[in-house]
Amino acid sequence: MRRKLVVGNWKMHGSQELLRTLLTGLQANAAQGDFADAAVCPPAVYLAEAATLLADSAISLGAQNLSQHEQGAYTGEVSGSMLAELGCRYVIVGHSERRELFAETDELVADKFIAAQRAGLTPILCVGESLAQREAGQTLDFVAQQLNAVIAKAGIEAFSGAVLAYEPIWAIGTGMTASPEQAQEVHQHLRQVVAQHSAAVAAELQMLYGGSVNAANAAQLFAQQDIDGALVGGASLKLDDFSVICRAAQ
Ligand code: G3P
Repeated sequence: MRRKLVVGNWKMHGSQELLRTLLTGLQANAAQGDFADAAVCPPAVYLAEAATLLADSAISLGAQNLSQHEQGAYTGEVSGSMLAELGCRYVIVGHSERRELFAETDELVADKFIAAQRAGLTPILCVGESLAQREAGQTLDFVAQQLNAVIAKAGIEAFSGAVLAYEPIWAIGTGMTASPEQAQEVHQHLRQVVAQHSAAVAAELQMLYGGSVNAANAAQLFAQQDIDGALVGGASLKLDDFSVICRAAQ
C-alpha cells in the first residue's frame, strides 16, 4: 500500500512573514493527527528559516530546484548537498516552468535527478504535456518520453528512491484541473512505463498529480487508484486550503 504525499510548491511567492504564519499554522493543524505525509518547498532563501520552524514537526522540507553540479564556479547556483545540509528531504526537478522558462532539457533534468540522489535528497520528477500535445493525442507518448529520458540515464532502480509528478501544463495555475479520469489515465500509463523496466519499482512508486489542485477537487483526485497525492501550487500558499488537501489525502 503506497502512502499518500502532499507537497506544496510555493514557486517564487512568499515573504518571511508568510513563511512564519504558514509554517506555524500548518504545524498546528498537522499536530491534530489527520494529515497525510506533507512537505513544503518554499523559495531557496527561506529554506534555512523553514528548517528551523519545522524542526521536530511531521512536515518535511523540499527545494524547488538544484544544480546538477556538486560545487564550483557556478554563480547563483545551489547544490544538492547544500540543500541536504539545510534539512531538505525533497527537491523538485523537471518542473515545466524550469523546462519552458529556463530551457531545461530532458538531459539536464536527468542530471539534476541524479545530483539530487547523490546528495541524499528525494527527487520529485515532474512530467506533463502542453495543451497542443493533448489536443494532438500525444499526451501518453510525450510523458513516457520525458520519463524514459531520466530512466535511461539514472537507471530504473533510482526510481525506488524517487517521486514522480504528473503536471499537465494546461492545468497549472489555470484553474483547469485535469478530471480525475484524465489524471488517472496518465498516472496508470506512467506506472506501466516504469513497470516495463521493473514491476516492483512501479508498484511502490509514489505518483503525485499537480495542476490546479484545490480544497474542493483534491479528494476526488486522491480516490483514483494511481494517484498517490498532489503537488500543489497556488493552494499551498493558503493555510486552510492546503490543510484541507493534506487531510483529504489521509
Ligand atoms: O508544482 C505545482 C504546480 O505547478 C501546480 O500549480 O498553482 O496549478 O496548483 P497550481
